[in-house]
Amino acid sequence: MQQPSSITDPVALHPTIFVIYGITGDLAARKLIPALLNLYTKRLLPQRFAIIGFSRRVFSREEFREFIRGRMNVRPGQFKEEDIKHFLDHITYEQGMFDDTGAYARLASKMKGIDDRWGQCSNKLYHLSVPPTLYEKILSNIAHSGLAQSCDDGTGWTRILIEKPFGSDSETARHLDKLLGSLFKEEQIFRIDHYLAKEVLQNIMAFRFSNSMFEPLWNRNFIDKIHIKLFEKNGMEGRGAFYDPIGALKDVGQNHVLMMLAIIAMEAPKSFRAHDIRVERAKVLSKLKPMNSRSINRHVVRGQYMGYMQEVGISPSSQTETYFRIQAHVGSSRWKGVPFYLESGKALAEAKAEIDVYFKEDKRLRAGAAGTKENRQNILTFRIQPDEGIRVRFFVKKPGYDFTTESKTLKFKYSEATSFDIIPDDYERLIHDAFVGDQTLFASTDEIMASWKFIMSILNNLKQTQLKLYERGAGYIE
Ligand code: BG6
Repeated sequence: MQQPSSITDPVALHPTIFVIYGITGDLAARKLIPALLNLYTKRLLPQRFAIIGFSRRVFSREEFREFIRGRMNVRPGQFKEEDIKHFLDHITYEQGMFDDTGAYARLASKMKGIDDRWGQCSNKLYHLSVPPTLYEKILSNIAHSGLAQSCDDGTGWTRILIEKPFGSDSETARHLDKLLGSLFKEEQIFRIDHYLAKEVLQNIMAFRFSNSMFEPLWNRNFIDKIHIKLFEKNGMEGRGAFYDPIGALKDVGQNHVLMMLAIIAMEAPKSFRAHDIRVERAKVLSKLKPMNSRSINRHVVRGQYMGYMQEVGISPSSQTETYFRIQAHVGSSRWKGVPFYLESGKALAEAKAEIDVYFKEDKRLRAGAAGTKENRQNILTFRIQPDEGIRVRFFVKKPGYDFTTESKTLKFKYSEATSFDIIPDDYERLIHDAFVGDQTLFASTDEIMASWKFIMSILNNLKQTQLKLYERGAGYIE
């Protein structure tokens, strides 16, 4: 993570052109435009910046401005009208088909025109805001039109932001990586997993490595199990056609859930620089024990919510999972024998992302604590969203004449802490970090490959699992 001076000082940022390939799509509307507007109003973009939207749709200049305006998601009174107007002045449009080389040549000349106006060669940041099936086409056209090159005089960089899903299996991920690697160096490639940008997930590292009361216990001698949850209440919300060929394991398992595991289980990095952190995250992921045809039955539960097949875009005989629970193991001396439960689903009772760390029961002091084993354990919970915070369950003596203990909770809630209530949006953070060149919150190629390897060991043995139907709003799937 880089030093704050470069983060907060826009003057330190070189002029930059940000090209959004597929600006008319859903992601640009929901995430990118609002994030850029927020960064702009916080004065976190370079003083000289231009956004160019590239897409198939035909717009007049005015129509495009109106279109973007409509996608900003601004609450009344949130920003000054003048700020919005100035922000819009930075955005222009280039219409073109993604496979038309002429359109890329026009884009290149438009960018050259901006550089000439600024009198210097600027940074170029590209975001592929398109379905992954278009990545290859766009990437090769970027290459052929010279857009992948950085400034000749070394004054400006070129970087690319690429969204998940990064490939649809190990093979296609390797292929995409090779293609990217032939055009860009690793330090130019920013592979987005927006969970990495979630504040509490980042806080886990700070919490683990700056509180000496927890880190010594962070191993198999003291930790009984770790439960990682990414629960959603929503079903498909119109994304059925995208989701059905993918399913929960690929949609959030291969990326968000495994990244949570990487952070909670990683060894202390040599330094807090991006490279060292990414190396440690990748190491943990590469130590995940793959499933085989025997273990999968005991260690993986897959489910589909009732009514899923009736949703728009879903095959009426779909066998796609909308829920999974995996008992994973990390084959390192620190974690030998400690189960990591990875659980995620759509249409569940609650929407929350959190990690529970269960400490082993200390039988010597467990005087009178009743109930199941879990009721007698200390639990440290990182609540990633909503209601961001950290809590610890501990035991105290109940007032009275006998010696019985009762559980209580110590809580730290972001919303109750002064200066912790404003949490940057994930995409704001990611775009910002791409501008300043900090890759900490982006996945490395080793992390991607290691997570695919683990997920593929499940996908290749799916026949050995049964798809269980669950009711919408279910709390636990047997
Ligand atoms: C996306 C998945 O990557 O993450 C979605 O494609 C999922 O299916 C989403 O809903 C969850 O992200 P968040 O930030 O809303 O928890």
